[in-house]
Amino acid sequence: MAVPPEFIEDLRQRVPLSDVVGRRVKLIQKGRRHSGLCPFHSEKTPSFSVVDDDGFYHCFGCGVHGDAISFLREMDGLEFMEAVERLAEMAGLAMPRSAPQDVAAARQRKAALDILEETTRFFEVALRRDEGRDATRYLKQRGLDAAIVKTYRIGYSPRSGLRAALKDKGFSDDDMLAAGVIRKSDRDGSFFDYFRDRVMFPIENRQGKVIAFGARALGDAQPKYLNSGEGPTFSKKAVLYGWVQAREGLRRNLPLVVAEGYMDVIAIHRSGAAAALAPLGTALTAEQIALLWKLHDEPVLCFDGDAAGQRAQMRALERILPLLEPGRSARLAVLPAGTDPDDLIAASGPDGFRKVIGTARALVDSLWQQLETEFDLRQPETRAQFWQVVRGHVRSIGNNQVRTAYGDEIESRIAAMRNQIRGVSSLVAPRLTPRPQTGLINRHRAVLTLLLAHPSLISANFEVLSMLDSGDQALESLKKALIDAVIRDPDLDAAAISYHLQGLNLGNVLAALTGDDMKARLPFDPVELASDQAAIYLHELLQLVGGKSGLFSQAGGPKNRQ
Ligand code: UTP
Ligand code: MN
Repeated sequence: MAVPPEFIEDLRQRVPLSDVVGRRVKLIQKGRRHSGLCPFHSEKTPSFSVVDDDGFYHCFGCGVHGDAISFLREMDGLEFMEAVERLAEMAGLAMPRSAPQDVAAARQRKAALDILEETTRFFEVALRRDEGRDATRYLKQRGLDAAIVKTYRIGYSPRSGLRAALKDKGFSDDDMLAAGVIRKSDRDGSFFDYFRDRVMFPIENRQGKVIAFGARALGDAQPKYLNSGEGPTFSKKAVLYGWVQAREGLRRNLPLVVAEGYMDVIAIHRSGAAAALAPLGTALTAEQIALLWKLHDEPVLCFDGDAAGQRAQMRALERILPLLEPGRSARLAVLPAGTDPDDLIAASGPDGFRKVIGTARALVDSLWQQLETEFDLRQPETRAQFWQVVRGHVRSIGNNQVRTAYGDEIESRIAAMRNQIRGVSSLVAPRLTPRPQTGLINRHRAVLTLLLAHPSLISANFEVLSMLDSGDQALESLKKALIDAVIRDPDLDAAAISYHLQGLNLGNVLAALTGDDMKARLPFDPVELASDQAAIYLHELLQLVGGKSGLFSQAGGPKNRQ
């Protein structure tokens, strides 16, 4: 079903975002802005901010950002259309009428969801019955207890009986076919249950609704896993198994691990060592990578140490590199050959698995080390080929800033390699520096970006500004120059200040602070912002950065996003 964009726009105008958010979060109004404790990550001091005029919320702690519809989807688990309906209700408006084919498609989708829910219950019950005895024994043997069976809604598909049970509930064969739980025989046109005598893993969407199944054979029957086909509720490439449980784990600040199989996800979750997700029997897609980044800036991808695992690792690297963005990456963990996370946890427990996650390599290291093994570095030709291939991968990075940063890193490694061969002391060979803590620095940058656009705010905040220390030399020089300039001439405007800073050789840091990339990180366009609103944001940001210098009590937010 489609609603005209104007209708949604109308809803946005009529229902203040603070009303929507206010039902879930206690908000305090300060001027045009409301603030409260972020519902997407745990915090003690409010960094969640709602501006009704913009219709957007933003958390300065964990970076979540969105509008009324995304809030209702994430917080209340509503589908898009349900969120629109909820807003229409709040606005006292009737939903616009849709085209007949949209109505039919929506009805079938709804019926499929109902069928899949009913089927999940049927399988859950069957597992507890006599006919599910072997499946229960199998699950026990694989270390799954009743609690985990309940959490993941694991069930058993008997050899028959589902279609009849669904018929009793009033569902039609057509809808069951569309939901993918029955099939039609090519031979005689009769219907049969698609999943038979298997352990059933319901696959849920991000709202926790069952949209498909993965079904494991109890013994050696083939295929080992039988999965639902694509349908009105299910597109394999856009789904990750275990979303709801993973999001729960991330609220407890666990790392996020991406594994290969259903059993791995469950074993990892059960171990308590990490939150876990898996694609459904395919390599990670771009959609799935984007989904991972909704939950965590740096998920850990697990690979088998065998040859197939190494090839899979290279494929994953090739998939991710073009999609990298500033602050968004992944780590790669290599497990002992022939081992998946489930095996590893069974053999070495949660601590063994934690250790493997702990040794996961940064993306750039994985790329370098993985390619390094493929070339004979003792020969000049193959060494040059190695450089060529690595540089090719760097060029595949889509984001300019990230590509530049990778270029610098890779070139310095190549230079180090050359120096080593020429017998130059390795002292000049640059070594990797550990990843700096970037969250707080970015808030310091945001403060400066705001001040550059609104220099009139500087004099009112002299004291606080000069006491803050970002620990970054370039930022500190720029801040000092900014304060000095305003002390000398309180009436300088943004353009004059920018001119002045460039004269002081601060052009580079100035460009970084006022560039598009910085703008993309901010919930506001600093230049477009009215000065009273700028003052409010500045106040908010100063509270957030103050924690480090002890000026205020606010500390930084965690890295994961839910
Ligand atoms: P694996 O063959 O590695 O199985 O497939 P596994 O996850 O370790 O399963 P167990 O431990 O033997 O039960 C990894 C994933 O690939 C998909 C499934 O999603 C599986 O979890 N797969 C595998 C299929 O879709 N079909 C298959 O026949 C096999
Ligand atoms: Mn396995």
